[in-house]
Amino acid sequence: MIVTDRDKIAAIAPLYQAGLGLLFEGHYKQANAATRAAMASGTADRRTAQLGRVLDSSEHLAAHFADVPLLVFGYLTSRENAGSIWPALWSMCLAARAEGVGSTVTTILEMFAAKEVDEILGVPEGSGFYRHACLPMGYPTGRWGVPDRKPVSKVVYHDTWGTPPAFAPSEPLWSPHK
Ligand SMILES: Cc1cc2nc3c(=O)[nH]c(=O)nc-3n(C[C@H](O)[C@H](O)[C@H](O)COP(=O)(O)O)c2cc1C
Repeated sequence: MIVTDRDKIAAIAPLYQAGLGLLFEGHYKQANAATRAAMASGTADRRTAQLGRVLDSSEHLAAHFADVPLLVFGYLTSRENAGSIWPALWSMCLAARAEGVGSTVTTILEMFAAKEVDEILGVPEGSGFYRHACLPMGYPTGRWGVPDRKPVSKVVYHDTWGTPPAFAPSEPLWSPHK
């Protein structure tokens, strides 16, 4: 389901913000505090600094959720077996990126506001469809680089566990500035 209606997105925004607040006060509380402390004291290593950027951008998304131009919600006829929706959603993220449109995978609304969002979107009770994710999409307003990743040789093994592939490239295979 695609949503561009400004009133609906504005109604969904506080639900997303409340959900992120619950996550940051719950599951991510310690990691969040430790990351912020390391950033503030200038002791953050590369990985912590990256997590700091992810936390900053997730807060930015929440704060500006009402301004997101397009929300794509993935629905499936199964609540438990979500596997088949992810290739479709991720394909949309890749296709969007190729067109210069940014997106991110989110599940906060599905975790914390399953029913409320369905009500806003007019999904009839007992429809048999279950929402699994929301992809906020829009044109990037700031720097839009390639995220920092470990080299392929550190995350891929070939034939035997622990053996890196001989062919691993050291750089992304696409242009980060496209
Ligand atoms: C299943 C799944 C659910 C996610 N849910 C959220 C979410 O609700 N909100 C959010 O800000 N990031 C969420 N993320 C993380 C972002 O999609 C993204 O992976 C993260 O911001 C790291 O960015 P990067 O992959 O560009 O480094 C989720 C990721 C996955 C895989």
